[in-house]
Amino acid sequence: MSDIHQDISRVLISADEIQARIKVLGEEITVDYQNEDIVLVCILKGAFLFMADLCRHIRVPVNTEFMAISSYGHSTESSGVVRILKDLNESIAGRNVLIIEDIVDTGLTVSYLEQLLEARKPNSIRICTLSNKPQCHKTPVQIDYCGFILPQEFVVGFGLDYRDYYRNLPYIGVLKPEIYQK
Ligand code: PRP
Repeated sequence: MSDIHQDISRVLISADEIQARIKVLGEEITVDYQNEDIVLVCILKGAFLFMADLCRHIRVPVNTEFMAISSYGHSTESSGVVRILKDLNESIAGRNVLIIEDIVDTGLTVSYLEQLLEARKPNSIRICTLSNKPQCHKTPVQIDYCGFILPQEFVVGFGLDYRDYYRNLPYIGVLKPEIYQK
């Protein structure tokens, strides 16, 4: 039987740590948006697990929206310019938008998305990411809520993928080099 856990060299952030941190983020968001409501914009695919857990710790009214994007070109390096595969269902004009990401790496994707959504005239727009690699940023990006800072290692799990696999790991772990050097 193949077992995805065997492809992980070490667990970086355990499932319990992730859940505890998500609870805290949900509480912070609840306090910050008192007497408001929020449109949570989940950036597919990676953020679906984070969004699902986070929204259950937010106690102000939320709408859930999903956006599917794909980077242009075949480069493994993000250019930040994205193609919208699935747009939001509803207008965000005058609303409080919270972009939900699984990872900010170069920061190019989220800063492009922020500009794109800003043009639709929301009342406010903030960024919430499960993880962040500040040492990899290629553009200044203002992150309002961040779960964890990650090292420059090849990590997967809890939404983070390698070739679309490993998203279903309940923790974030380091992928064994022999997997991606095959
Ligand atoms: C990942 C992640 C962000 C982006 C971050 O998405 O979900 O959207 O890359 O990278 P950046 O900061 O360097 O721009 P990916 O394109 O891998 O798609 P996925 O969410 O479907 O895995």
